[in-house]
This record gives sequence, structure tokens and C-alpha cells, in this order.
Amino acid sequence: MKKVIVTGASSGIGRAVVERLLSEGWQVFGMSRRPLERLGDLAERENFTYVQGDVSKDADRLRLVECAGEVDALVNVAGIAPRERRDILEMTEESYDEVMSVNTKGTLFLTQAVARGMIKKGGGGAIVNISSISAYTSSTSRAEYCISKAGMSMITQLFADRLSEYGITVNEVRPGIIRTEMTEGVVEKYDGLIENGLLPIKRWGTPEEVAEAVWMLVNGSLPYTTGESISVDGGFRIRRL
Ligand SMILES: NC(=O)c1ccc[n+]([C@@H]2O[C@H](COP(=O)([O-])OP(=O)(O)OC[C@H]3O[C@@H](n4cnc5c(N)ncnc54)[C@H](OP(=O)(O)O)[C@@H]3O)[C@@H](O)[C@H]2O)c1
Repeated sequence: MKKVIVTGASSGIGRAVVERLLSEGWQVFGMSRRPLERLGDLAERENFTYVQGDVSKDADRLRLVECAGEVDALVNVAGIAPRERRDILEMTEESYDEVMSVNTKGTLFLTQAVARGMIKKGGGGAIVNISSISAYTSSTSRAEYCISKAGMSMITQLFADRLSEYGITVNEVRPGIIRTEMTEGVVEKYDGLIENGLLPIKRWGTPEEVAEAVWMLVNGSLPYTTGESISVDGGFRIRRL
């Protein structure tokens, strides 16, 4: 049975990734901060093991890696937005540190730990990072988020380069505007933007659509693809006149 670690497993995109991989018969080790009781029916699922923890903390990452043992894949989904949207001229160091420690530092050092294990077991495997259109799109009211996602993109490149000799692929999925807990507070704003033509595909994306791209990247069907990013964004990235 294939084994995979998924962070951010409790909700949104991470949860959809967990469901997708469970549906393929994979054994899934999920991490996020809320207690198991708040995972609903996911807590009962066969082949799902939950490690409650914070990906920004070294001890929690270690517990996760030790619990999972040798794995075939890692999907870094855990991420946060700034607690408060503030102009870059008003952004606080505290908010910057918080966002970077989860989105970027957490991803970097969990990937490092899992990669070491993959190498130790003889190589092979797939790593997928969930970055964002924010990796290349300026939002001046949440600069720390954009910077963190741009950093994740470089993490993808660096590990893709470093791990290719071990047969490990490292790729990235860049979601656009996806309906989850993270975007609950900006539904009206994005509804308006979509209505006014922001996206060629005029609707929100779903966590399941992102999970489908993750599945394609972890299932071994693209063995000659590494350091690549797949946009699941309704065509957001297309420059239009
Ligand atoms: N929704 C979008 O439009 C969108 C677009 C582009 C990219 N993304 C990215 O997609 C990823 C998932 O976001 P989402 O939209 O699915 O939002 P979400 O529903 O808020 O999910 C975020 C997940 O990350 C977990 N998490 C947060 N901080 C964590 C930490 N320190 N340690 C471990 N787990 C942590 C959360 O669980 P707990 O609260 O239980 O810790 C939750 O499971 C994020 O990286 C986000 O940046 C989202």
C-alpha cells in the first residue's frame, strides 16, 4: 500500500487531497492543528492516521515523520493567510514571521525531513507543494502571503534539482480562487471580481479540482516532470486584452 503525508489535512484543499488519496487505496498520514474530534467523519476512516500538530514546529514535524515511517509521497498543503489584511507599508514583523513560519519554513523543513527518509529507503517518490497564484501576483494588502508563496516556488525548484538524482519528483500546484475556510471572509469581494471578468472560467474553483491535479503529480504518471507548476486557476494567469 502506498503511503503519503498530507499537511493541512483538516479542511479545504488538504482534506480534499486526503479524500482523493484514500479513494485510491493509499495510506494517509495527515497533520493539522485542530483536534481529531473536529475532523468529523474523516477521523473514522480506515487508512487515515492523524497527527495533531503545527508544521512550523520542529518537534511536531519530527513526530509526523516518525509516525509515518517510509513514505512514497508528501503533499505540503498547510498554509495560513495573515490574520489581518494590512497594506505593505503597515505590515508588521509579527505577521510576517507567523505566515512565513507556516507556509515557507514549515514546507521547507518538512520536505527536508521527508526527502532524507526517501533517500534512505533507496529513492523514488513524489513531493507536491500547494503554492498559489500569489507566488507571482502582487496583493499589497497581504504581502507576507505573496512572499511566502513565492518562497514556496523556489523550494519546489531547489528540491526538484537536488532530489532528481534519487528519482524523486518535486512539483507544485498553484490554485487560484478556491472556496474554502481561508476564503470565507472574502466571498463577496471575489464574487464581484469574478462577475466582472477576472477569470476566463467564470466561477470559484473547488478543493476537489486542486486535489485532482495533486493526484496526477503523485501517482507516477508524469515521471519526466519535475520542478513544474500546474495552475488550477480558471485561466487567471492568462494575460488578456
Ligand atoms: N483557498 C484558496 O483560494 C487558495 C488559493 C491558493 C492557495 N491556497 C493554499 O492552499 C492551502 C490550503 O488552504 P485552504 O484554502 O484549503 O484553506 P483552509 O481550509 O484554511 O486550510 C488550511 C489548512 O492548513 C492547516 N494549517 C494551518 N496552519 C497550520 C499549521 N501551522 N500546521 C499545520 N496545519 C496548519 C489548517 O488546519 P488547522 O486550522 O486545523 O491547523 C487547514 O487544514 C494553503 O497553503 C493556501 O495558501 C488556497
